[in-house]
Amino acid sequence: MPEPDVIYSIFQKLRSRFPGFSADASGERHLYLNSGAGSLTVDSCLRAVNTEGSVLNPMPGQITPPEIQTRQFQQQVRQLVADFLGAASPEEISFHFSTTAALFNLAIALRSLFKPGKNLIVTDLDHFANISPWEMIATWQGAETRRVRLNSDLTLDSGHLVSQLDHNTVLVALTGASNVLGTIVPLTDLVSEIKQKSPALVVVDAVHLAPHAPVDVREIGCDFLTFSGYKIFGPMIGLLYSRKEIQDRIAPYRVETNKEKSPFCWEQGMLPNLQLAGLKGALNYLLEVGRAASPGDSSAPARRTFRRALEAIKRYEQDLSLYFLERLKKIGSSRLKLYGIDSPGRVTSRTPTFALELAGLSPSELKKMFWERGRIIIADGNHYSAVVVRHLQKSALNRVSLAHYDGPDSIDLFFDCLENIISH
Ligand SMILES: Cc1ncc(COP(=O)(O)O)c(C=O)c1O
Repeated sequence: MPEPDVIYSIFQKLRSRFPGFSADASGERHLYLNSGAGSLTVDSCLRAVNTEGSVLNPMPGQITPPEIQTRQFQQQVRQLVADFLGAASPEEISFHFSTTAALFNLAIALRSLFKPGKNLIVTDLDHFANISPWEMIATWQGAETRRVRLNSDLTLDSGHLVSQLDHNTVLVALTGASNVLGTIVPLTDLVSEIKQKSPALVVVDAVHLAPHAPVDVREIGCDFLTFSGYKIFGPMIGLLYSRKEIQDRIAPYRVETNKEKSPFCWEQGMLPNLQLAGLKGALNYLLEVGRAASPGDSSAPARRTFRRALEAIKRYEQDLSLYFLERLKKIGSSRLKLYGIDSPGRVTSRTPTFALELAGLSPSELKKMFWERGRIIIADGNHYSAVVVRHLQKSALNRVSLAHYDGPDSIDLFFDCLENIISH
């Protein structure tokens, strides 16, 4: 476990690692409260693209030194991602254009599972990246799609999910955390229940969870899990974990000369070395955070160090959520509504991501006012999320999303500006 308050002591140093924290490329001041859409990029990611990325050979190989170096580099990044997720082997990790592309790829690769008489399950808490590929393949193949609803507090109705399972359920697609509400899904317990009650494969979208809490694929017990580099302080790239034991059931589309074995069968064309270099830089940053969080254990293996980093970040962000909810309560305006978990006693079940609505202003008007009055960047829109589109049946909501480089000062600036907007 990390030292209790260590993250506070290193916090200022961490913020300075994000060149975009307080200003844009032209030096104009801003406050970025939209990390749910994509985190700020850490300096070690940018540096790695310039240094390591610039000397890599396009093609990995076994004979000339540059191609050997490139092969070793790609293996190293796969290993780092495996350590980040607690995967058993780097062969369980494949690189994709994005998480959305990885999940479409996966749906195609599993197409033979979906037949008339079979069913699959998606949830109303998910991003459409983990819904549309499954609905599409089910429709193509004649299988049934079942949808899990939400409870009145907008958490996932686990009982409803379990009641939908039967011996013909071939797949459950599930998020780790909502990118709109910040609600965390109790994956380990839920996946264990799914596995006891059905033969279903479980696919987890960990895009929103990964920057906020440790993710451990073996602890969760899922078969597939995805996340994106640009949400964990790195570059645009999608990562897919696929459990070794079920790899004989997949048939991704691939050219005839591509290798049949995982991870290579997943990857179409040459790998994006610059993105991989940036990803390595971002993951190395998280290792630094982990070592700073546990200074007495600097030689711990990468898996343990990643875990410590994310445990420390999770604790720190829970305090940010508490402070956010406290300031929200103080506003006491009947015009303002928060969607999702609002009880301070339940901050362990959320990330610092808050969906808001201010009556009298459309989400795009409110976003514009935050920019004009406070140079503050928040989000509006449907966030590609079923919570907004299907469950609440709205066209848009505002979202304020924090990360560990934010502090109480970010929250104060946000609420000072909100008070100004409400009162004028
Ligand atoms: C929860 C969640 N899942 C999936 C995605 C899609 O990720 P990508 O942009 O890498 O396809 C996002 C992107 O915002 C997301 O927030």
